[in-house]
Amino acid sequence: MSYTRKGTKAQVLQSKSLRVLRGHLRRDGDGTVRGMDEAPEETLYDRVGGLAFFVDLVSRFYEGVSDDEFLGPMYPEEDHGPAIERLALFLAQYWGGPPTYSELRGHPRLRMRHDPYKITKKARDAWLGLMLGAVDEMEMDPGDRADLVAYLDLAAHQLRNR
Ligand code: HEM
Repeated sequence: MSYTRKGTKAQVLQSKSLRVLRGHLRRDGDGTVRGMDEAPEETLYDRVGGLAFFVDLVSRFYEGVSDDEFLGPMYPEEDHGPAIERLALFLAQYWGGPPTYSELRGHPRLRMRHDPYKITKKARDAWLGLMLGAVDEMEMDPGDRADLVAYLDLAAHQLRNR
């Protein structure tokens, strides 16, 4: 079979793969072609350097927990290794990392998971104080730091249950 140039073009324009591609390259009202001239949005997780950042942050937080006379005894396990992993994976997932936390633990349901612990105003403030101290020690972009701090502050306020 031979095609004229025009025929070939018409056939190519009808091809399934191109129709699929066109679907991906939908135009927004402002003329932006989605999927072609925009890289996928970079997340805070990417910017801070991925999981290692969250493990470092949470390890620093847990050093504080171990030394804290009020918070320390609230934590059920003496070895904080597994707890560090859970919180680091949770935060990494929240900020755009892979969904490993949910694969291992299911839906976060943080209020429910915190039910066994008496999170009074004093406990919340102690937790937040240690966590914001750990954030202060991390090197990061000021805008990202402000976002992280705002989130932790809000989440800690929401988890107060007494
Ligand atoms: C407000 C003060 C808070 C207190 C006193 C507190 C206390 C605790 C305790 C005692 C545990 C059990 C440790 C473990 O075995 O994992 C825990 C687990 C956890 N907390 Fe908190 N927490 C607080 C706030 C937060 C906040 C703000 C977040 C999230 C931003 C958070 C996320 C988690 C996660 C992800 C776990 C592990 C859940 C699991 O998969 O079992 N917590 N918390």
